[in-house]
Amino acid sequence: MPDTLTNSKIVAAYRERTPKSAELAAKAQELLPSGIAHDARYMKPYGIYVDHAKGPRKWDVDGNEYVDYFGGHGALLLGHNNPSVVAASHAALDQGTHFGANHPREIQWAALVRKLVPCAESVRFTSSGTEATLMAVRLARSVTGKSKFVRFLTHFHGWHDHMTSGHANHFDGTPTAGVLAGIAEHVILLTPGDVEAVKRTFASRNDIACVILEPTGTSFGAAPLPPSFLHMLREETSKHGIFLIFDEVVTGFRVSPGGAQGEFGIKPDLTSLAKILAGGLPGGAVVGRRDILDDLDFDAAERKKREKIAHPGTYNANPLSAAAGIAALEIVGTGEPCKQASATAASLRAALNDVIAEERVPWAVHGTFSGFHFFLNAQQRPVDPHRFDPMTLGYKELLSNPPALSKLLRLALLANGVDVNGRIGGFTSATHGKAEVDETARALRQSIRMLRAEGELPGA
Ligand SMILES: Cc1ncc(COP(=O)(O)O)c(C=O)c1O
Repeated sequence: MPDTLTNSKIVAAYRERTPKSAELAAKAQELLPSGIAHDARYMKPYGIYVDHAKGPRKWDVDGNEYVDYFGGHGALLLGHNNPSVVAASHAALDQGTHFGANHPREIQWAALVRKLVPCAESVRFTSSGTEATLMAVRLARSVTGKSKFVRFLTHFHGWHDHMTSGHANHFDGTPTAGVLAGIAEHVILLTPGDVEAVKRTFASRNDIACVILEPTGTSFGAAPLPPSFLHMLREETSKHGIFLIFDEVVTGFRVSPGGAQGEFGIKPDLTSLAKILAGGLPGGAVVGRRDILDDLDFDAAERKKREKIAHPGTYNANPLSAAAGIAALEIVGTGEPCKQASATAASLRAALNDVIAEERVPWAVHGTFSGFHFFLNAQQRPVDPHRFDPMTLGYKELLSNPPALSKLLRLALLANGVDVNGRIGGFTSATHGKAEVDETARALRQSIRMLRAEGELPGA
């Protein structure tokens, strides 16, 4: 591939539309590593700077409008600025943002979580999903007295020390930069979907506290897992006294009001939640069996003669996040937003595959629930996009979109008014509808033609 960034007409078109973003990006470079605050926002030549958003759309500082599939990194099932969430947040803001004390909203929020999430007998709020998975593993170790835990290659659980190897690199389990070998060596990395590896590992050792996974597969199904794998895990973990942790930071309140566990009828021992939980504001929670969360409870720990796990956190159950979370979960609880977002994603996947077939590109768009993922077919397999079944391919191939092509496709889509994530995929919200699907299909067709004109795709 030629120098994609300097000679590309796609990049030129992107730059032409976004001079103010370019200016801000240059300033940001001096202040922030790579000019960004989250690795997923890293892109060349620079990312857009957004001024405001509403429903399924957002507008950059140059006034360009985008159909938004980034979806607040998955937090915005209800779209941007849902009126009830905004009103509840304003009301909470007027009352004060931090009381250094308990407040009524945290009870209402926890009650809603317990009502919706099957395993949630008890709830401990955190400030992020990363903190929730950290505490889930700590609880499992504390209660079982065992030190090792199982994760699946490429599954993401936040950025704390136990979760880095084997996500995007270090697939051999060696520690990533800044992480102690003594921590990494307690993580057992298995191949996602490998039933025999799970059974063998569980049967051959007695030092495993828990297993944690993204229940619909890597990155909300970019490399999907069959529900049978979850049922097998529930059975095997119960058999061996290992705790099962569903990381439902993305799937919680999205796959169904009760998350993946509600949808598939499986009760994990613990669950990490964030994103939709707090209605688009910062917030997370570890929830699950009361006898496990008892290790966070002063009285229960004393009663059981156990050392209590300390857990402060300045912004745990922050009143503003609680208000937004309550408003969001009340709407999610009706079941409508999950249904609507999933239905729109299904028609989006179909419309994009129509374009891919008509334009004769060897790609496919797949996904489950309210997600969609582009398979850009690095190995150039013959593919019928309408019949593409990601379960027939391994996770490695599904997750190996060619980087240079992905970058250009993402820029081309942005230049045509659509924002997707770096894997080339995203989330729909309950506010996305036919207009957004049609616009995205048009943008994809245009983007494919731009790529082809640049010699990045086969065929005339
Ligand atoms: C499955 C999963 N777990 C955990 C996290 C970490 O959550 P947070 O970004 O709130 O720390 C994420 C974030 O994207 C996630 O997708």
